[in-house]
Amino acid sequence: MKKNEDKSPEMIVNLGGLRLNNPVTVASGTFGYGREYEDYVDISKIGGIIVKGTTLEARPGNPPQRIFETPAGMLNAIGLENPGIDVFLNEFLPELVERNVTVIANIAGNIVEEYAEVTRRIEKHKGIAAIELNISCPNVKQGGLQFGTDPKAVKDVVKAVKSETSIPVIPKLSPNVTDIVEIAKAAEAGGADALSMINTLMGMAVDINTRKPVLGNIFGGLSGPAIKPVALRMIYQVYKEVDLPILGGGGIMNVNDALEFIMVGSSAISIGTGNFVNPQIAEDIITGLRDYLEANSITSIEDIVGVAVQR
Ligand SMILES: Cc1cc2nc3c(=O)[nH]c(=O)nc-3n(C[C@H](O)[C@H](O)[C@H](O)COP(=O)(O)O)c2cc1C
Repeated sequence: MKKNEDKSPEMIVNLGGLRLNNPVTVASGTFGYGREYEDYVDISKIGGIIVKGTTLEARPGNPPQRIFETPAGMLNAIGLENPGIDVFLNEFLPELVERNVTVIANIAGNIVEEYAEVTRRIEKHKGIAAIELNISCPNVKQGGLQFGTDPKAVKDVVKAVKSETSIPVIPKLSPNVTDIVEIAKAAEAGGADALSMINTLMGMAVDINTRKPVLGNIFGGLSGPAIKPVALRMIYQVYKEVDLPILGGGGIMNVNDALEFIMVGSSAISIGTGNFVNPQIAEDIITGLRDYLEANSITSIEDIVGVAVQR
């Protein structure tokens, strides 16, 4: 018994100061606040739960229709429906802390000051291990251009959040850009501890009977297996050029997908759309990763991070 335990591969990872018991996290907006999945999975076994995106004030979200299935993926235009940071901190967070879950907050805002204020409130609470910054949000002060598509806005928002907190700050990069490395470098310059990538790719669908866009918001974010090759390519590029640990995701549906993400440079991975197909996917992938390491006599998950990247 003891011998076996000694031999089991090391699954703990360090993501820019965020310690995870294993590299598997669930992506923001696809796992609610964890409790929605409690009937299916022991949520405390997941490396980290990235909770639904939270803003300073409550938001009602976009008009329907908000989701639409596409070949090999889905479009969503939820519009950050959430109860606001105070309700999250006071009503939802304590339950997760009690269950020993590693909670990563995901925050969003219309202006830099909103990100900073949400961060100040998080900082006052115990129980949040890291902050993921959703920068795929319109920057109201810059005419609605997404923070995540402008290097200066990325640097500014990361810097503002970093100055308010001692826990790791992980900007989540938008793939809707021409040069992802430039954006990653801007996040690094702002003081990011790690990078999360990628968020959804902007897309749309048309209903040929109504002859109108399907989504109430017209545009939505494409996720699922359709975006995996794009995510892998972007992570590969960033891993080569930027010296920050990466939380990689986009279309992970099984352990082989997870391994691909790790091999292009992800220290940890996130599962989004996959949770809707198989609510136990996180546990399955944790087991699958351990089995892969054991079968290949690899002592630590960290040993295969970036092994596919050619220098
Ligand atoms: C229904 C839905 C809601 C989402 N909500 C958020 C959110 O609130 N904040 C955020 O940063 N990303 C959000 N995302 C993006 C996911 O966290 C993830 O980055 C993206 O879906 C790509 O991963 P996947 O292909 O594994 O789903 C959402 C995605 C979906 C499908």
